[in-house]
Amino acid sequence: MSGINYSEKIPNNVNLSEDRTLQRALEHWQPNYLQWWNDMGPDGSQNFDVYLRTAVSVDPQGWAQFGHVKMPDYRWGIFLNPGEQDRKIHFGDHIGEAAWQDVPGEHRANLRRIIVTQGDTEPASVEQQRHLGLTAPSQYDLRNLFQVNVEEGRHLWAMVYLLHKYFGKDGREEAEGLLERNSGNADNPRILQAFNEKTPDWLSFFMFTYFTDRDGKFQLCALAESAFDPLARTTKFMLTEEAHHMFVGESGVSRTIQRTVDVMNQLKTDDVAKLRAAGVIDLPTIQRYINFHFSVTIDLFGADQSSNAATFYSSGLKGRYEEGKRTDDHVLKGNSYKILSVEDGKLIEKEVPMLNALNEVLRDDYITDSKGGIDRWNRVIEKAGIQFKLTAPHKAFHRNIGSLSGAKISPDGRVVSESEWNAKVGEWLPTNEDRAYVASLMGRVVEPGKFANWIAPPVMGINRQPVDFDYVRFN
Ligand SMILES: [Fe+2]
Ligand SMILES: [Fe+2]
Repeated sequence: MSGINYSEKIPNNVNLSEDRTLQRALEHWQPNYLQWWNDMGPDGSQNFDVYLRTAVSVDPQGWAQFGHVKMPDYRWGIFLNPGEQDRKIHFGDHIGEAAWQDVPGEHRANLRRIIVTQGDTEPASVEQQRHLGLTAPSQYDLRNLFQVNVEEGRHLWAMVYLLHKYFGKDGREEAEGLLERNSGNADNPRILQAFNEKTPDWLSFFMFTYFTDRDGKFQLCALAESAFDPLARTTKFMLTEEAHHMFVGESGVSRTIQRTVDVMNQLKTDDVAKLRAAGVIDLPTIQRYINFHFSVTIDLFGADQSSNAATFYSSGLKGRYEEGKRTDDHVLKGNSYKILSVEDGKLIEKEVPMLNALNEVLRDDYITDSKGGIDRWNRVIEKAGIQFKLTAPHKAFHRNIGSLSGAKISPDGRVVSESEWNAKVGEWLPTNEDRAYVASLMGRVVEPGKFANWIAPPVMGINRQPVDFDYVRFN
């Protein structure tokens, strides 16, 4: 079951050839997908040979095979983790019942919406990142960008498979829609706002893959608990690919910081103007990028109180992060949870029914997890002997969804006046000047083993290859 059949047009481990109708429908979608990749995928990259990993099995050991491939020839396909025998639903009102191998009629609309929303983010990020290859700081980084891109493309395949197999005509229409909406398109945008923003430079890309791909991890973890077994199995395999995306982000920011602190020590200065003159990204600017990406990403978890979240949980569609490791009753009726709101000019905690606060529960788990990387970035700064600490902004800072939406809160969690906000926002969020400066550093570096001035080389290469390996052959 875990072996992948590459002899077919669409590589898969779901015995696709046994379901002719489905196979034909997906083979019909495939050229549209490739057309989308050509139109909206990585700019000008069609003829490059890129050192990519391809899944050969869904086993945790050795699923990846590395080799140079042209991206349009990448073997996108359908890979599900093996099913667990007699899997039971382990949370919500149906707890203890057998997991669903098909979609129950009463949950069809909600499941479709969950799958479409997840599926929409995958091609969206490819679109957001499509010009970054033109300014890659090294071949190593260019290869990592392309690896992330092809895997987001495969994640789209994962969701499209579910839509085609389980949702009939509606599902096929939704699968077309996933190729029709485009990131930032005024008439037909992507569903979630963070996926309509630009990813204009490589610092944004690293922040995006660290923070926003981690939102992906938490959403996928919650769906990996689903009573709808095919969704649980497909998201489990997606998670193994997602880990590399977050590695790209964390190590990218870390190397950016490394280069900055090296230059700070060489020049014996923390003067922003001097550091910018030396062509590195000053730590306060990195902090502002963190503040931006962190706040925009935590909005993706949705409103802090949501009856949809309660329905999704109680009906078994979407669990909590690591549901199986928790020791409560997994039904949560009568439990409560603390959320934040602003009352009389103060930030207060409010107790609400936990079922309605499950978006907040997932957001809080995400926040704990995402702080880990910030701690590791601080170790790079500490090791260089520099007094500066990066922090995650307060959860209430710069929010646009839920009860904190539009509240004026400083990164350290104080409610501030409109005038204080306006006076300080340039210290808290990237300014146009910051963005223009970062953009000015973005030049293409393509010789193997060479790196742009603003970023340090990685400690090691991909798949134990040397750092100066030819990760991309431009032909
Ligand atoms: Fe993804
Ligand atoms: Fe990802």
